Amino acid sequence: MQTLTITTPDDWHLHFRDNEMLAETVPATARCFQRAIVMPNLVPPVVNAAMAMDYKARIEAARPVGSSFEPLMTLFLTNETSVQDIVDAKKAGVTACKLYPAGATTNSDAAVKGIKALYPVFESMQEQGLLLLIHGEVTENHIDIFDREKVFIDTHLTQITAAFPELKVVFEHITTADAAEFVAQSNEFVAATITPQHLLLNRNDLLVGGVRPHNYCLPVLKRNTHQKALRDMVASGNKKFFLGTDSAPHAKHKKENACGCAGCYSAWSAIELYAEVFEQLGALDKLEGFASHYGADFYGLPRNTTTMTLVKENWDVPEQVTLADGTDMVPFYAGQTLQWKLKSAFQSA
Ligand code: NCD
Ligand code: ZN
Repeated sequence: MQTLTITTPDDWHLHFRDNEMLAETVPATARCFQRAIVMPNLVPPVVNAAMAMDYKARIEAARPVGSSFEPLMTLFLTNETSVQDIVDAKKAGVTACKLYPAGATTNSDAAVKGIKALYPVFESMQEQGLLLLIHGEVTENHIDIFDREKVFIDTHLTQITAAFPELKVVFEHITTADAAEFVAQSNEFVAATITPQHLLLNRNDLLVGGVRPHNYCLPVLKRNTHQKALRDMVASGNKKFFLGTDSAPHAKHKKENACGCAGCYSAWSAIELYAEVFEQLGALDKLEGFASHYGADFYGLPRNTTTMTLVKENWDVPEQVTLADGTDMVPFYAGQTLQWKLKSAFQSA
């Protein structure tokens, strides 16, 4: 039987949510990931070190018994974020700050309206060594949703990376050839995460034959030429591109809704989905770098020392999962068959 053993992976972008939801989301990720960058878009958002550390403790309390899973915490930048907040965050052990343009996505209304006003904060992050994680989409009404990433690059990202050449910037969940090219051509302080859905799907998978709310996420799926550019990039083994699932759970009734929420809950099948992609690309030998090496290297953290093993064996992603309070959620790829299955995790190397 075909097996694949790689260094234990990390997830460099996901959403755990809070409270009861943690009993579902934390074990789903801790089943095979050693660390994860935890997004701060709670209600209210995580805006300072004290909130981040409280949230970290709640996540740690939801880990399965014996798990050494490590949440890496982030702050949600607002126009009220101060240089002192950055100094305090660094001291407390916060890893990064997240820039959401206001209204860009779920729970981002409190986010930043004038990016330039945050330059003193970016300056401090550059000094302190906190990473800047960016949801790279403009939110102006007159900009077409499929163009919002490209316009963000042209109007904001080029300026930020030029003004702070040694600030580590992660362009999160990129979706376009433009973003891939921008990152590839930038200096070594700029990298990107890529989700399973943006590698596996394009906008036909969202819209052809009926609207498919469980494939709706932000940034929205793009045309197949962009999907191909992302696939070619990960197949090339470029070290600037690494795994970030953007696993983003929402209740089933909030996705299957006249105004459905954005986000794919992929934690239950994430590493298997990526294995599927890399196999389709004939690049299974590049999975380990993408999933387990390049992210840690970029963040300046040690690579994991344990390994995980996947086995070539068909299994079906469950149709739904039900939380303790009865809330149903539909995982990404629900009911579909995957060819790679997690066999064992956290093996001593
Ligand atoms: C995320 C969420 O639900 O919090 N949704 C999504 O579609 N990706 C927010 C985000 O990462 O943009
Ligand atoms: Zn996200």
